[in-house]
Amino acid sequence: MDFEIHTSDRPMPDGERESVLGSPGFGRTFTDHMVTVRFDEERGWYDGRLEAYAPISLDPSASVFHYGQECFEGMKAYRQDGGAIALFRPSVNARRFNRSAERLAMPAIPEETFLQALELLVAHDAAWVPSREGESLYLRPLMIATQHELGFTLPSRSYLFVVFASPATAYFGAGERLRPLTVWLSEEYTRAAPGGTGAAKVGGNYAAAFAAQRQGVAEGCDQVVWLDAAEHTWVEEMGGMNIFFVLREEDGSRPRIVTPPLTDTLLPGVTRDSLLRLAPELGLDAEERPMSVPQWEELCASGRMTEAFACGTAAVIAPIGRVKGAGGKGWTIGDGEPGPVTRRLRKELLDIQYGRLPDPQAWVYKVG
Ligand code: COI
Repeated sequence: MDFEIHTSDRPMPDGERESVLGSPGFGRTFTDHMVTVRFDEERGWYDGRLEAYAPISLDPSASVFHYGQECFEGMKAYRQDGGAIALFRPSVNARRFNRSAERLAMPAIPEETFLQALELLVAHDAAWVPSREGESLYLRPLMIATQHELGFTLPSRSYLFVVFASPATAYFGAGERLRPLTVWLSEEYTRAAPGGTGAAKVGGNYAAAFAAQRQGVAEGCDQVVWLDAAEHTWVEEMGGMNIFFVLREEDGSRPRIVTPPLTDTLLPGVTRDSLLRLAPELGLDAEERPMSVPQWEELCASGRMTEAFACGTAAVIAPIGRVKGAGGKGWTIGDGEPGPVTRRLRKELLDIQYGRLPDPQAWVYKVG
């Protein structure tokens, strides 16, 4: 697609941008530009443009406000040693975006247009890509239904695709002192059921998760752990990230990382997939297998589960130290501190993303 370029006539002054980059946090400040592309049934995708980051004006009757047709992605641009900027497996995000769109009866955007939009934004806002360890430019592609109509017979016939960016540190903080998370077992609420939208990255899943997340925070936890809808027993994923367990066999054989298998009730994370592929290269076994809450507790009590961690684009890899649930239930994982397998996987992944290690799988996608 040919994009029209309308650069911001009032970009943030260098001094202010540097001050934001001094302590970016997560998702608080946004760069100078955004990319938008429109869709309607007659024209297909049209009117691609780079323009100043600004509010979007929509009619109150726009479909997204009522029936929630919206999907999004989370991605990052990394400043590599030597100054180059790279994305990480962006085609995997593009494909997942289109699977999410399909689940909500929204149109697919050509992968090439999705990638062009990201590259264009990163190229124009390159000065916003942080260069400190663990920091990156977080990219948020999204699509919303814009048709002005309240009838609920057929999906919207018009859509808006947007990508915007925000300098970010890892969701739970970066640096050597990794803070172990406490997680809340959500036995009252359900995130996803078979045939639903659990495997799609759609706003509605997150909206429905807030009640449980708020409950978890009130209980002193950082994130929710979601269980299956039928039995409330099988671990699926966390609030906005996937989960892994580290097991050690009694015979001292090599550690194994375990994550719940993909079904239509959990999100197929890009970081999750990357770790499953990376682990064998690091001498770790990797397995997708169901884990129940009683098994989880028992494996910790017997000492066979030494670590657990959350993983996702925003979270990177974050150790889990403790599990809590209703009625005072709770246990500690290992010694409650970040373990060696978690640390090693985190370092390895970051070293690939920041271009410090060879990239035999061609995951790193240079831009700008
Ligand atoms: C991401 O990891 O990019 C996400 O979208 C998770 C979000 C809850 C911050």
